[in-house]
Amino acid sequence: MDFRLTEEQLAVRDAARDFAQNILKPGVIERDKLMKFPTEEVRQLGELGFLGMMVSPEYGGGGMDSISYVIAMEELSKVDSSCSVIVSVNNSLVCWGLETFGTEAQKQKYLTKLATGEWIGSFCLSEPEAGSDATSQRTTAEDMGDYYLLNGTKNWITNGSSSKVHLVIAQTDPAKGHRGINAFIVETDWEGVVVGAKEDKLGIRASDTHTIMYNDVKVPKENRIGEDGFGFKFAMKTLSGGRIGIAAQALGIAAGAYELALSYSNERKAFGKPINQHQAIAFKLADMATEVEAARMLVYRAAWLKDMNMNYDRAGAMAKVYASEAAMKIATEAVQVHGGYGYVKEYHVERLMRDAKITQIYEGTSEIQRIVISRDVIKGDPYISMV
Ligand code: CAA
Repeated sequence: MDFRLTEEQLAVRDAARDFAQNILKPGVIERDKLMKFPTEEVRQLGELGFLGMMVSPEYGGGGMDSISYVIAMEELSKVDSSCSVIVSVNNSLVCWGLETFGTEAQKQKYLTKLATGEWIGSFCLSEPEAGSDATSQRTTAEDMGDYYLLNGTKNWITNGSSSKVHLVIAQTDPAKGHRGINAFIVETDWEGVVVGAKEDKLGIRASDTHTIMYNDVKVPKENRIGEDGFGFKFAMKTLSGGRIGIAAQALGIAAGAYELALSYSNERKAFGKPINQHQAIAFKLADMATEVEAARMLVYRAAWLKDMNMNYDRAGAMAKVYASEAAMKIATEAVQVHGGYGYVKEYHVERLMRDAKITQIYEGTSEIQRIVISRDVIKGDPYISMV
């Protein structure tokens, strides 16, 4: 078994690391404080090809594998998860969903712009009363013959005010349950699309999270994704891959917090020696290092399974639940290692601790991941086979 990265993957890691350290880091504290969307940084990410990494070059993407994508997510998230969630939603949910399930016309019209970063997109599933329980959609899309009439409210939408395209999940036939749900491509400048309040969040404060209202929005029939009734499966399949991206974000937060704690513990002296020469701190570093490596193995393996066209639902859920819990724990410990300095913004670890929390919530809470894992374990193979 060869765990080494390829030349291409190493080049992606170096480019993402360079961008994170030199472009994202200087303004990250200010953007977090002011809830300022990273417009210029996202434009540059698009130019460098980070917004459509896995999309085929035919549609303007980078044609890269999922391992390269999680490596980039890890490096960007070490520094700025407000930025990396934009990268993740655009790559994993919007571009992947469209490339995998869209028609050729939909790909030509939308994917080509989304993959290059000319536009960014949003994935609109969550509702005031349908977050974890995704089949309980209240947003309706009434079939009016040659178009659908979309009405409803979506909550916690990433890229809410900056996206040009929404992939919206809505109920067309409540009698059919999840088989009556459809997914639609909606342009945000269409009449009836209203961007509501921006959320004032604990973490990832520079990303723009909004409520979105759809009031009698006319969606042309050709903007439905897949066959009639495919919307719930579209959402589940797309989220399965999205969870690998968020797992990589959590891994990046964990690794970033660990690296800051390690470096600070070398510099800071107490009782006559660097604090990492005291076992109380050294053992924390040992645990952090171990958990970062374990998270990385789970995340990279889930990405590898996806690249191999093998089932990655359970592996992605395992990676997300483990990496997000590791991120929360490691970032909290990194604040502890920094002592009083860890509690102020200048040292970055308090932001990583705040950012870590969302990775246990979005794209399926830790509880949802455990539902996915336990159902799969109980019904079949006790382990994920490598062959
Ligand atoms: N792939 C394909 N099909 C799937 C699937 C998957 N991964 N998971 C479920 N399905 C199918 C099932 O096979 C079933 O189909 P059939 O009836 O034909 O067999 C159908 O979907 C319904 O499945 P379940 O009965 O398992 O559905 P459920 O109601 O029990 O819910 C759940 C399952 C896993 C809990 C699901 O509702 C879920 O994942 N909820 C969480 C939603 C979520 O992640 N929300 C996050 C919002 S997006 C976001 O955060 C984006 C952002 O901006 C950052």
